[in-house]
Amino acid sequence: MKLIFFVWIFFFICVYAQETAISYPDIFLPIQSKKCMVSSQESRATEAGLQVLREGGNAVDAAVTVGFVLAVTLPRAGNIGGGGFMVIYLAKNKEVTTIDYREKAPKTATRDMFLDKNGNADSEKSCHSYWAVGVPGTVAGFAYALEKYGTISLQQALKPAIALASEGIVMDADLSNTLRITKPRFQNCDASMKVFFKPNGDNYEAGDIWKQPDLAWSLQEIATNGQKSFYQGEIAKKIVSDMQKHGGLITKEDLLAYQPVIRKPVQGTYRGYEIYSMPPPSSGGVHIVQMLNILEKFPLGEWGHNSAKTIHVLTEAMRLAYADRSHYLGDPDFTKIPVSGLVSKAYADELRNKINMYQATPSAKVKPGNAIFYESNDTTHYSVIDQYGNAVSNTYTINLNYGSKIVAEGTGILLNNEMDDFVAKPDSPNSFGLLGSQANEIQPEKRMLSSMTPTIVLKEGKVFLVTGSPGGSTIITCTLQIISNVIDHRMNIASATNAPRIHHQWYPDELRLEAGISQDTIDLLRKWGHKVLIKDSIGSTQSIMQTSQGLTGASDPRRPGALTAGH
Ligand code: GLY
Repeated sequence: MKLIFFVWIFFFICVYAQETAISYPDIFLPIQSKKCMVSSQESRATEAGLQVLREGGNAVDAAVTVGFVLAVTLPRAGNIGGGGFMVIYLAKNKEVTTIDYREKAPKTATRDMFLDKNGNADSEKSCHSYWAVGVPGTVAGFAYALEKYGTISLQQALKPAIALASEGIVMDADLSNTLRITKPRFQNCDASMKVFFKPNGDNYEAGDIWKQPDLAWSLQEIATNGQKSFYQGEIAKKIVSDMQKHGGLITKEDLLAYQPVIRKPVQGTYRGYEIYSMPPPSSGGVHIVQMLNILEKFPLGEWGHNSAKTIHVLTEAMRLAYADRSHYLGDPDFTKIPVSGLVSKAYADELRNKINMYQATPSAKVKPGNAIFYESNDTTHYSVIDQYGNAVSNTYTINLNYGSKIVAEGTGILLNNEMDDFVAKPDSPNSFGLLGSQANEIQPEKRMLSSMTPTIVLKEGKVFLVTGSPGGSTIITCTLQIISNVIDHRMNIASATNAPRIHHQWYPDELRLEAGISQDTIDLLRKWGHKVLIKDSIGSTQSIMQTSQGLTGASDPRRPGALTAGH
């Protein structure tokens, strides 16, 4: 109880510090700096990344270091057994590029593999079985990023993570609680119990030292033998043997064939700012740009932040975008996706004309569907800017909280359950309530559609904002609101982060609000036909923004343990 009280006090001090940072730069140095900054969900990861920057490393060096540390310190989302996306701004060439290290379906995956004997989608199979695991991409993605854009070696980038895994970390209340809640799932896998619980099966409590010797071994293997160890060496052997033992699909051929892909970012403009984000197989970039295009001709700044009119048009833009998401989006290597059409200003004009200014459009009139669930505390985002003007926006995931809850025996590596991001059956929602079409049906070696939206915003050719969030289907709308809050409503990055958020995803046809929006506004929205629900918090952004006073950053107060720090 006491601990929770102190965590809350600390949280409010942080919020206050962040809110007032722009006015009091000398006092609040930790989140304001002239040179470089890291913003991540976990303080030890932020500190490790910042140390790399202090020693002269660049943003990619720091991003890879942060990613490896998160695999140790934030196991519910940080990973080497999952995948993700990295958006990189290279100051020297004024160029933005992206690395797609999303997981892939194994070669033997089939379209109907998650249907039960009655032909219904079986979420136990797609979320909590060895079949739920996609071929991981994180190690290949990080190794590629370092080799192509970094200045430090893989060994150097892995050093802090190896030390934390082998020497142990102090278990905090959040980690201990989430492990306790997830224990019934972990109990299905002996290798997971060995990693996350004491030898007698008891929970680790806050304050205990928690060591991960098997994960330390895996990280050391990668440091010594490179990414080959994961995809064809000793780690690969252990993953494949575990899959064989439990009827999983991933083979040595699957691991050997895995390659990250360099993709051109999705690009758009919004009120004079340039938006760069992740293209398919993420839906994030396409729909951020699409929604911003729709919103650009509405005077949101004049209408005010979270006024009824502003929320109404945001909601209608979200509804239209998510309807398109369900139909068009998938892996571009398998499906033709009309990206340029979806992000064109002309298409946005057409969509904007469909918005009735004082009446919600029922989702059934936009396109039929059905959905049940929302997000869980999965995925994690981090942002980095270095002293040379480079930036990295990285979101990676093992899908749901602690992924499949399956550790590959002897590796300490928690495996993803990303296969649930495919469409198991048309009209059957996935864990995030998202619907999809043939574009996202399961095929061998295909990448499952994602909502991850690592984004970099430029102003006059220089980095202005680096942002992104976890939160499943809410990632895109959450990132959208950070961009709108700073551009339309002139908020500093802390206010933009802390402000109450909204979310609509076409189906279920409900407008989800965080607490803190005025009752007058809610009454008006209901009058205009919105099905308003006050639900749990949305997202956990980690953002850095350039101001005339230098870099400012904010870690979202919605989840504990995050840290933004600069130098
Ligand atoms: N696993 C959630 C996403 O990629 O959108």
